[in-house]
Amino acid sequence: MHAVTPDGRVWSGGRSVPVILAELPGGSTLASIAATFPGTTEWFYRLVARHRQRLGRLLGQRVCSVDPSREGSALEVDVSGRLAYGRGMAVAERQMRIQTSLAPFLRGILGSAPLLGDPDACDFLAGNPEVPALPGYVETLQKWLEPQDRRWFAYGMPDPRAAEAASAALADELGLAFDPEDIILTRGAHGAMALAMATVLDPGDEVVFISPPWFFYEALILGAGATPVRVRANESTWDLDLDAIGAALSARTRMVLINTPNNPTGRIYPDDTLALLASLLERRSNEAGRAVYLLSDEAYSKILFDGNVMRSPASHYARTLVVHTFSKSTLAPAERLGYLAMPPTMPAREALRQAAMSAGLATSNMAPDAVMQYALPDLLHITVDMERLQLRRDRLLEALRAAGYQVHTPEGTFYLLVRSPIDDEGAFVRRLAQDKILAMSGDMFEMPGYFRLSITATDDMVERAIPVFEKAISETR
Ligand SMILES: Cc1ncc(COP(=O)(O)O)c(C=O)c1O
Repeated sequence: MHAVTPDGRVWSGGRSVPVILAELPGGSTLASIAATFPGTTEWFYRLVARHRQRLGRLLGQRVCSVDPSREGSALEVDVSGRLAYGRGMAVAERQMRIQTSLAPFLRGILGSAPLLGDPDACDFLAGNPEVPALPGYVETLQKWLEPQDRRWFAYGMPDPRAAEAASAALADELGLAFDPEDIILTRGAHGAMALAMATVLDPGDEVVFISPPWFFYEALILGAGATPVRVRANESTWDLDLDAIGAALSARTRMVLINTPNNPTGRIYPDDTLALLASLLERRSNEAGRAVYLLSDEAYSKILFDGNVMRSPASHYARTLVVHTFSKSTLAPAERLGYLAMPPTMPAREALRQAAMSAGLATSNMAPDAVMQYALPDLLHITVDMERLQLRRDRLLEALRAAGYQVHTPEGTFYLLVRSPIDDEGAFVRRLAQDKILAMSGDMFEMPGYFRLSITATDDMVERAIPVFEKAISETR
């Protein structure tokens, strides 16, 4: 079974490879195609040979030919899902594309599975708690679990007290007066982003997102029926590359998705960068005659080091959809709670509110469970101990650097992004795993040559892991 997916990959029998297309010199009408995945050439050649006319039409060429010798990227061409092979598949074609985009993440997580439940493992894999709950968390949920009236667990509208408390907290954080009616409670940031996309995206719309991304952005965009357009962050500063974003905007761009403080780079985008992004999107919306929304994933807005303050593009761009979650601040990501917020400057707020409600009903992406809604005002006051987290960040940073690792200082989030001492970061992560250190390999989040460490690990794990980090790097010398 073969297919060409909208992000320009070819899928075959469970494997997918990026398709690299290059125009031949001299204005030739041929396009040459090469697969960069070793060992795929033969089936890939057969696939293209079979469909060369169709592929060619898709690319605005007469036909295509394969150049099996080519390696590396020349010109990546968006094939926008207009090719649909494999109609006999058991599952929806869209899900196959989503699976392709999730494959590196799932492979990595499944690879780590044997160590996940090991009591001796030092787990730096995900932003997961290593203690059962923060002080006061369980008592808060217990308090709100107790029914106070007969409709406590009934179907109904979201609890208005939750939205009021969230809007007051957001006003404190960002200095913007959000109307409680513009706070839509969701099942975490993931739910908020899916809801935002279902509310404003149509098939064929493009969503620009930044690489390295959070694992599920591409899947979310594909799931909303839109087309993902990837833009690389500036690799020396980890800031937004505004020129590259500008170049990626097209008449079909409907949304730009950013994440600050950023997972995995730890970067907080500076306020002036956000202001420049706002003017870029303003111009683009005016030129295209259609609003471009900015989806701002602010999952780590409370996880800030060194006295840094949270900056949101909502202060600059009226059409910002703000995404918040309690997964990080309360360190309890399996208890789903978050919200999507529209600033008071957002045009057509009433229409968006109504559309968000219908989008929630149409996609079954409804409000969080009742107890989480009732508990929200209290949960705003339960936050991870930032002083301890910063001490842990500093301890690990210092030890890694002393051992010879290259690692930059994250301004926020739970993560250290470390350069792998060998090119094959997957092999290095497997080496660490031999001594029960769980790290995340860069190929899971589009950062080849790096690995990520979550400092939600305990202090004890950090101390046990440091000698292993030292030993592992010394073996590479
Ligand atoms: C950048 C980013 N956005 C969103 C999420 C998802 O958060 P939630 O658990 O609230 O869905 C995460 C969680 O890891 C994240 O790192």
